[in-house]
Amino acid sequence: MFSAKDIEKFRTETDGVQKVIHLNNAGSSLPPNAVRDAVIQYVAEEATYGGYETHTKYFEQIELTYDVIAKLINASREEIALVENATAAWNGAFQAIDWQDGDEIITNQSDYASNYIAYLHHPCDLEIKVIPNLPNGDLDLEAFEAMITSKTKLVSITHMPTNGGLVAPSEAIGKICKKHDALYLLDACQSAGQYPLDVRAIGCVMMSVTGRKYLRGPRGTGFLYVSKAVLPELSPYYLDLHSANWTGKDSYEIRSDARKFESWEGSRANTMGLKVACEYILEIGIENIWKRVQHLGDYLRTELSAHEGVHVQDIGSVQSGIVSFTVDGKSASEVKEYLSEKMINVSWNGVSNTYLDMTARGLNEIVRASVHYYNTEEEVDAFIKELKQLS
Ligand SMILES: Cc1ncc(COP(=O)(O)O)c(C=O)c1O
Repeated sequence: MFSAKDIEKFRTETDGVQKVIHLNNAGSSLPPNAVRDAVIQYVAEEATYGGYETHTKYFEQIELTYDVIAKLINASREEIALVENATAAWNGAFQAIDWQDGDEIITNQSDYASNYIAYLHHPCDLEIKVIPNLPNGDLDLEAFEAMITSKTKLVSITHMPTNGGLVAPSEAIGKICKKHDALYLLDACQSAGQYPLDVRAIGCVMMSVTGRKYLRGPRGTGFLYVSKAVLPELSPYYLDLHSANWTGKDSYEIRSDARKFESWEGSRANTMGLKVACEYILEIGIENIWKRVQHLGDYLRTELSAHEGVHVQDIGSVQSGIVSFTVDGKSASEVKEYLSEKMINVSWNGVSNTYLDMTARGLNEIVRASVHYYNTEEEVDAFIKELKQLS
């Protein structure tokens, strides 16, 4: 676990904490100063010396990004594609599957809107099966296993939902997928940077991640992991001259590594920022981060629960740093706006981000306060104090 001195150091290295109490790390985290500086410096060099010339100068640094990400998730560099966000990463994998009418997708109740919309939007007639929850909100793993049939093409799981602290048992799901030889795509958008993601231990063959949330990277960054075991069977839904090579009038060759899911153009400055963000995590340790995030999340839930008129809405036996709650007599946006005036950042969700989960639990909206390791108990106390003034 981090010491008080460690936390102080992280805060000294994050200028934003002097201005705001940032409890919106699940929206977009405050980056370490080193991430901000890497991006600014790179953009300045591009403006002075030219974009391509700066790319050549920093080529090796940019290439290192693949190694750093691979180390963070226990993959190999050939299994990583850099893309603009988690949705692009997720769709890169999903749209590359050889879908046929009647294929089945198994997902969880707290699946993210954009994923579910993609199932519905797909031109093939796909059957979507939703794993039921146990009474405490955990996934019913026995029911899940019983749902798998010879038509199951994909198990698509949102690891940590956008609307609360639930954590799906990613490793247990992976074991069942392996037993039944089912493709397993994990949406780790909310978990990367707070949870120790080890793709080999989890057993997922595809995983989508964004940079701006718990990784504390720049906006407009993300990555896709695709295991070497399934790379050959996935055919990207679009190609360019980076993901494929034009070899003749009637021929082209697709790259064999995960970069077949990338496009040529992208922000190299942001990639530099993402690299620095991942290096920062490797230096301080993701296991330590997870312990600290869970500790602060628990603290926040306990403090919220002690307050009359406030209802914590998180479910499940393992909970993350994403804390959801409702306040009697106040709309979620009113709570957010009030706190924003006090320089406290939180967020809120309506039904449509996680339609199945919100409707199943009879929730119209929730306020979301998401803590990271650089937040403090004092910040949580200040947040609670302000909330008391409101309700
Ligand atoms: C669970 C989950 N998946 C995917 C996404 C989409 O991420 P991005 O906005 O980087 O595409 C989000 C964004 O909030 C999310 O919460």
